[in-house]
Amino acid sequence: MAKQTPTLMDQIVSLCKRRGFIYQASEIYGGMGNTYDYGPLGVELLRRVKDAWWGAMVTERADVVGLDSAIIQNPKTWETSGHVGGFSDPMVDCKKCKGRFRADKLQDARCLEKPSKIPGECDGELTEPREFNMMFKTNVGPVEDTGSVAYLRPETAQGIFLNFKNVLDSARIKPPFGIAQIGKSFRNEITPGNFVFRTREFEQAEMEYFVPPAEDQQWFDHWVEARHQWYIDFGVNPDKLRLREHDPKELAHYAKATTDIEYHYPFGWGELEGIANRTDFDLSRHSEASGTDLLYFDPQTKEKYTPYVIEPAGGINRMALTFMIDAYEEQQLEKDTRVVLHFHPEIAPITAAVFPLVKKDGMPEKAQAVAAMLRKARFATFYDEKAAIGRRYRRQDEVGTPFCVTIDGDTMETDVVTVRHRDSMEQEKVKISELVGYLYEAKTNWTRP
Ligand code: GAP
Repeated sequence: MAKQTPTLMDQIVSLCKRRGFIYQASEIYGGMGNTYDYGPLGVELLRRVKDAWWGAMVTERADVVGLDSAIIQNPKTWETSGHVGGFSDPMVDCKKCKGRFRADKLQDARCLEKPSKIPGECDGELTEPREFNMMFKTNVGPVEDTGSVAYLRPETAQGIFLNFKNVLDSARIKPPFGIAQIGKSFRNEITPGNFVFRTREFEQAEMEYFVPPAEDQQWFDHWVEARHQWYIDFGVNPDKLRLREHDPKELAHYAKATTDIEYHYPFGWGELEGIANRTDFDLSRHSEASGTDLLYFDPQTKEKYTPYVIEPAGGINRMALTFMIDAYEEQQLEKDTRVVLHFHPEIAPITAAVFPLVKKDGMPEKAQAVAAMLRKARFATFYDEKAAIGRRYRRQDEVGTPFCVTIDGDTMETDVVTVRHRDSMEQEKVKISELVGYLYEAKTNWTRP
């Protein structure tokens, strides 16, 4: 039988497992559908993505503050937000294989018994579509009855709305202002996930930006532009990004307008992040249901109003996957092929790898000292003394380390190291005393190859 060439997604999945980015969850028990664990490099990648998001959305801005709200909130939250009644997908069941599939995504699904067929095109008969709520239910307290039902949050946004007044009263801030949050959300996703693109638990990065109602369009445009630019600033190929406005029929129940930032994945265009104009929907509903006044009083105009909300909402795991797919290249060199991840240095899990050229003549000790200096300067640093130097470079290329620092015979005499750049493979001599400043500059001045 002819051997099939692995697709780009196959290569990424294999690299993720081989190098410790992402593993199938519960693998030794046969796995768990649409659920993954992040290994040593994966967790660093997620952390970089979160830092890059938080830096741009909170640290660099005077008008946005952070929050970390509870995953399990009072269930009235989800009744009021419309999630209990409306957060559902139309599902069909196959009477033969007993599979359950999204009625609107049958093309993406596969029959459980005949994976070459889509459900309904095999011998199985499908039921009429029924609404299936995607929230995970749980019980709080010692008794499992209807009174103890609670939900794992399906979005982080509601925790922000519930704290609107707390933040307004405590943070000396006024519209236009934002509250940002990164945290886990949970959805009982049924459709196949395309690796970590769609999973049952995932981290969201959401910011609710509260504005005077008359300024909603200007801020909506601002955030669509800013979020699109953020991906480009962190190295994503602009030709693989596009903006797509939602058709009125596909708008979520709370939204007046939504624009998705889409990426051209190996499996087609897909949503990377959405920017929605949620109007005053959430604050008004929570105000009415809780009896708590969630208005803003403007002391200058003496006006009271419910702010409108512009929401950029992305998924950290989906962002990480996108950075990885976008950075991946198999480069044909004269003698071999090298796999390289051209991560932006701020996104790369490891910033610098330090190698002694050989395991003798004091080079390992010197290299360890250089590695310790870089760690102290807060560079994610990896030390490696095993295998030939060329092979060590390749191992770092494959995980996207932008700089490799080699300690050789010259270093022992002159305190000068060789810095090898991942993208160009060019090498430069740098004094150890200037290495930290050199790497800071190289990180800051990096451009997409
Ligand atoms: N608060 C609005 C909201 O939750 P959403 O479009 O449902 O909007 C926002 O989710 C982002 O969260 C998506 O653009 C995507 O990046 C990420 N996301 C949503 N569902 C996901 C899933 N099942 N797995 C991974 N990421 C997901």
